[in-house]
Amino acid sequence: MFESIALNPPDAIFGLSEEFNRDPNPTKINLTVGMYQDESGQTPIMRCVRKAARQLFDEAQSHVYLPIDGLGSYNRLIPDLILGHRHSAVDAGRVLSAQTPGGTAALRIAGDLLKQVGGVRKIWMSDPSWANHVSIFHGASLEILRYPWLDRSNAALDFGQLMETIAKMDAGDAILLHTVCHNPTGVDPTPEQWRTIFDALERQRLFPIFDFAYQGFGISVDADAQPIREFCDRGHEALICSSFSKNFNLYGERVGAITVVGRSTVNALAVMSQFKSIIRTMYSTPPTHGAAIVAKVLFDDVLRRDWLTELESIRIRIGELREMFVVAIKQRLPEISFEHIRRQRGMFSQSGISGEAADRLKEDHSVYLLRSGRINVAGINATNLDPLCDAIAAVLTNRKSMA
Ligand code: LMR
Repeated sequence: MFESIALNPPDAIFGLSEEFNRDPNPTKINLTVGMYQDESGQTPIMRCVRKAARQLFDEAQSHVYLPIDGLGSYNRLIPDLILGHRHSAVDAGRVLSAQTPGGTAALRIAGDLLKQVGGVRKIWMSDPSWANHVSIFHGASLEILRYPWLDRSNAALDFGQLMETIAKMDAGDAILLHTVCHNPTGVDPTPEQWRTIFDALERQRLFPIFDFAYQGFGISVDADAQPIREFCDRGHEALICSSFSKNFNLYGERVGAITVVGRSTVNALAVMSQFKSIIRTMYSTPPTHGAAIVAKVLFDDVLRRDWLTELESIRIRIGELREMFVVAIKQRLPEISFEHIRRQRGMFSQSGISGEAADRLKEDHSVYLLRSGRINVAGINATNLDPLCDAIAAVLTNRKSMA
């Protein structure tokens, strides 16, 4: 049987990072997978996470199974983190969360739910979007359609085209929205644009899934949740897929959640029961450690404050890296504008560098970025900034555009 199975191409993101790991060049630069790196190129363990993990180790009595929907204390914290403390929908029992192994599992559960019991056939997602979005919802057997996101002429949101496309969507279609720090572009709607988008969602009777992987990377933990809060305040149903990989630097612990906002407690409980049966056949129950760390940090006032402080310093540093990059590249390539990188938010930027130029950067300079032109800004540091900009300038010099 195996002889009839074809070889799959490597994953667009992790495949490249594996290539990076194999590259023997000691000065190689990794701007591939979205992981925060500090000035020394390491992905640090946050102070609050280290403290919480130590406490958990000392307190541990056994390693029993969690319930199918995960750790109860963690699940009770997530709605507050998304909708704010004591939101009426949470108090009314209309908002329920289930712990998931990362945001990816949450997205897949959302896809399975919509397809298997929600009667949804089609899901719309931005073009471009996180490469894995397509595969996840394809795996859930939903038809995938795209709405435009980036106006490549000015690297800003293509709001006009977006609104025109939403107007053509069919009632009952699902739409996947990046809540903040759009991956891969770093381009988000303004609060006013969100309002216009939500008006259109209401008119077209669309069902939103909010991908919320970067809470705290835009403006603040609360401000970044504002689009979801606004939508839910209108009384609508939604699914929210959270990840704590980035905002707790807990990548390998796979900590996420799927949250249902129902119109009633009965609806929310019914959806939760469906989550559970999907989870039971997919991975049975989630792992404990990462969620226990997040719950400990969020329950403890001191650890929580420290988390917010450290997260803020990460956010500020990424903003400074954007600034440093734009200044350094302008000195070398004044004829090509990278100003958009200053405006974009979160870990990623759509640099505008073409796939062919990305190949040259990899082959000739051991600089790794996605072929789509996405760079992980958090992979830049004071040491690699100059070699990075020299390499980009060498590849792009004498080219009229970035192609
Ligand atoms: C990324 O976009 O690089 C991260 O979200 C990691 C991943 O799973 O692709």
